[in-house]
Parts: sequence; structure tokens; C-alpha cells
Amino acid sequence: MKNLKFYFDKALKKGFALGAFNFNNMEVLQAIVSASETLSSPCIISVSEGAMQYMGEFLMPLANTARKNKGIFLHLDHGKSYEVCKKAIELGFDSVMIDCSALPFEENVKLTRKVVNYAHKHGVLVEGELGQLKGIEENTKSDFHHFTDPNKAKEFVTKTGVDTLAIAIGTSHGAYKYQGEQTLRFDILSEIELLLPNFPLVLHGASTVEQDLLEEINANGGNIENAVGIPKDLIIEAIKEHNIVKINTDTDLRLALTSGARTVLNNNQKEFDPRKYLGAGRDRAQSVVEDKMTNLLFSKNQK
Ligand code: G3H
Ligand code: 13P
Ligand code: ZN
Repeated sequence: MKNLKFYFDKALKKGFALGAFNFNNMEVLQAIVSASETLSSPCIISVSEGAMQYMGEFLMPLANTARKNKGIFLHLDHGKSYEVCKKAIELGFDSVMIDCSALPFEENVKLTRKVVNYAHKHGVLVEGELGQLKGIEENTKSDFHHFTDPNKAKEFVTKTGVDTLAIAIGTSHGAYKYQGEQTLRFDILSEIELLLPNFPLVLHGASTVEQDLLEEINANGGNIENAVGIPKDLIIEAIKEHNIVKINTDTDLRLALTSGARTVLNNNQKEFDPRKYLGAGRDRAQSVVEDKMTNLLFSKNQK
């Protein structure tokens, strides 16, 4: 069966990655699904705890409509507690992330193990996290990168039984990822891979924050200054030459939706039909997702 594990294994072998795209509303979800269908690209649709609250009971009908298409999987992003992971599993998610990376190591192991035990009984995959991204991670703020310790990563995977591991090697959430040099710690990634050969790894905070989107937003009444993403070539290196099989993206979709909507509203002061401005945002988001599937993730035609 072509379940999510099948695609992680395939991605590892063939050197592509699954895009894990966050959504909070119908238009962004439609954009992701249309891109996935147009390009025959498998992908993950991710919901944060905040997104779950925002969409409420509308979430599952929307997600299940998306999942009628092959190769689209529903994932809980940054679940902070056993209870929220259990709820997502009961709702029928394909995978959950338990993110207790801000807790001491042994507590992170304990809680992650508990989620793995429950999830695996229900055929659901689990992503754990070790190390902390600089900036905001679902309500927890860290002023510094706490890079993943490779030895601890091996111990963590062995003790918890997670299916995938999110690591910290210099990416961060949001639109302001760097003040200085735009680098990633490939030395740490290589060490992790030496200790955990062929183990599927995940990069959070992997938006590339394209200049054209920023220019469109700012040309249409926005004011987003000094936004910087992860350089594309670093993401490609992480996918092609390392074991990164899942690339998390939220910020780029927020920028795309905003750009499309702002362009319509700025060009027509009389417009107030949401289908016009949200529809334009949806189209812009679809073009961003298609570009990623084709030129960044290499997941096109891999369904
Ligand atoms: O990694 C976090 C995602 O960007 C979700 O953000 O909690 O604002 O929905 P959110
Ligand atoms: P970005 O803010 O770089 O899009 O990262 C999103 C993310 O990691 C969701 O888990
Ligand atoms: Zn994240």
C-alpha cells in the first residue's frame, strides 16, 4: 500500500522530499491539492494546534476531501501534548508530531515514547524533535539555535521508536531567518546520518521567502522589510545529498496568499468579493507549491 511510510522510503532512496504544507483555510488547502494533482506529486497537509482550533469541526471534512486524492497525507504539526496527539489520531490523521523539544531530554523521550505506543497501535506515524529552532516554535521562544546533538539523536530514536526525526541545523520558523550569513550546519547533519544511517529526517522552518513575493506584497500596500529565507541551494543539498525527506513550509504560503489578495484589493478599491481576492491568493499559492514540487523538492511525478 502506498501509505506515508512508503513515500518516506521512496524519497530516501530516490533523493526527493515530501513537502509538508501548513494550511488554515480552504483556499490554501485547495492550492496544495491542485498542485499535487497537476504534478502528480505526493505531499503532506499539515495542521498546527492553532490551525485545528481555527478550523474547528470544518477541519476534517476539508482534509478528507483533500485525501480523496492519492498521495496526500494529513499530519499534526508541533503537537505539544499526549492529549492533542491522541485527539488527532482519533480523528484519523496519518501522522502526528510530538514536539517536546523544549523539555529536558529524558522528559522528551518519555512523552514521545508514550505517543509512539498509542500511535503505532493505530497505524499512525510519529515525528519527534530533538534540538530547538531559533525563534518561535508554537508558543515557545528560543533566542538561539540549540543544534541537535548527533549522539543524543541516536539515543532518542532508539529509545522512542519514532518514525522520523525533526532536527535543528540552522533553519528557523517565520520570515526572518537570518541576520548574518545564510548557512546550515551540514557537518552536524552528516554526523547524525553516520549514527542513524538511512533514517528519515525532517527540516522545519524551511521556507525560502522569495524576493518576488515580498516585492509584490510591498508594491501593493504591504510593508515587510528584511525578510530572509533559507537559500534554495541549501535545501536542495539537504534533500539530494542527505536524508531529509520532509520539508516544512508555512511562511511561503502565507506570503503567497497575502500577495495574491493584496494585488487584487490594491488594484481595485471597489472590490469586496472574497472569491476575487482569496481566489487570486489561492492561485498565487498554487504557483508557489508547484514551483517547490518541481524545482526544490523534486517530488513531481512521484505519486
Ligand atoms: O511551525 C509552525 C507553523 O508555522 C504553524 O504556525 O502555530 O501560527 O499555525 P501557527
Ligand atoms: P516556515 O516558517 O519556514 O514556513 O516553517 C514552517 C514549519 O516549520 C511548520 O512546522
Ligand atoms: Zn515547524
